[in-house]
Amino acid sequence: MKLIRWPANSWLSLLHARYRRVDILWPEIINQFFRWLRLPYVYRLTTVGLETNNTCNLQCAHCPTNTTMQRPKGLMPWPLFQDIIDHNPQVKRIYLTNWGEPLLHPQLEAMVAYAHQKGKFTALTTNATLLNEKVSRGLLQAGLDLLKISIDGSPQVFEKVRGFSYQILEKNVLDFLKLRNDLKTKTKIEASMLVFPETLPHIETFFSLWQNRIDYVHLQPKFFTFQRQKITPCRDLWRILVVLWEGTVVPCCADMEGKLSLGQATNQSLESIFKGPRMTSLRRAHLQKNLSGLLCEKCLPYFTDYHLSLKQLRKLKLNPSSPE
Ligand SMILES: C[S@@+](CC[C@H](N)C(=O)[O-])C[C@H]1O[C@@H](n2cnc3c(N)ncnc32)[C@H](O)[C@@H]1O
Ligand code: SF4
Repeated sequence: MKLIRWPANSWLSLLHARYRRVDILWPEIINQFFRWLRLPYVYRLTTVGLETNNTCNLQCAHCPTNTTMQRPKGLMPWPLFQDIIDHNPQVKRIYLTNWGEPLLHPQLEAMVAYAHQKGKFTALTTNATLLNEKVSRGLLQAGLDLLKISIDGSPQVFEKVRGFSYQILEKNVLDFLKLRNDLKTKTKIEASMLVFPETLPHIETFFSLWQNRIDYVHLQPKFFTFQRQKITPCRDLWRILVVLWEGTVVPCCADMEGKLSLGQATNQSLESIFKGPRMTSLRRAHLQKNLSGLLCEKCLPYFTDYHLSLKQLRKLKLNPSSPE
């Protein structure tokens, strides 16, 4: 039985949900230390986002997947997935999500199991619409370390922007939690709320509904919606790479169309891309505050996804070119 429970919006909860492995935490701290020293170099690549698929069963108002995305739709083939896992042993954490709903991938459970067997920390983000008993059991038994569920604002706003029943979502999440507790797996559960003008007034409701039920609650500003207050080098450039479903490597998930392509995951190791000249020059551009022509110019600094206090959130101003 867990005797101490820290608040689900605290740094300790974040550490526990996402950084509980020392072999991930220390290299990430060293990477961020390079950023803090204003050096465009990195120590090691620990974390990779894999776009299992960019197809989705919902059409959320805020999301490009089924609205504005131009690139072809598809599912990551198993051989590509296996190749990435097998040829990048230094990568310790795999996020099996980018744009799209990962539970639609027929081999998702096998992907979690395979990565888990290879010693990876496995995580994914889902809309939870397909999170029935069979799927939940499969993911828990496959060794999933972190399940992030997207819950945007109050029940009413959630239903409006996501077009899905809040009641069903809540049941799926609570059933998953109960099963996790019954099976006594170490899987952590995080609720993630996207912040944009429609959800902004409902942060307290979101917190009050979820912070005592799950392991961590998290706020994520919608990309390209709020103005940068100052240009700080983006922490993700010293942290992760993302592989799109067909193998193109990009610096982060804000690159929805794969415009900042860094190469193909099949041709070279991901760490060599992470340490290579294109990533280094992108980091240098951030350090020199020279973002013109890059999509980073309109992206809110990503440090906010760690913990964005309400005070900071209230100060955010809308980007003039935002569609909102
Ligand atoms: C693209 S979704 C994919 C996973 C799954 N379909 C879901 O909704 O959780 C991953 C995360 O991105 C967030 N997201 C959606 N549209 C976004 C946007 N325009 N800017 C930033 N994040 C966004 C979602 O709220 C979700 O938490
Ligand atoms: S946020 Fe998730 S569920 Fe909604 S459309 Fe985007 S990928 Fe699909």
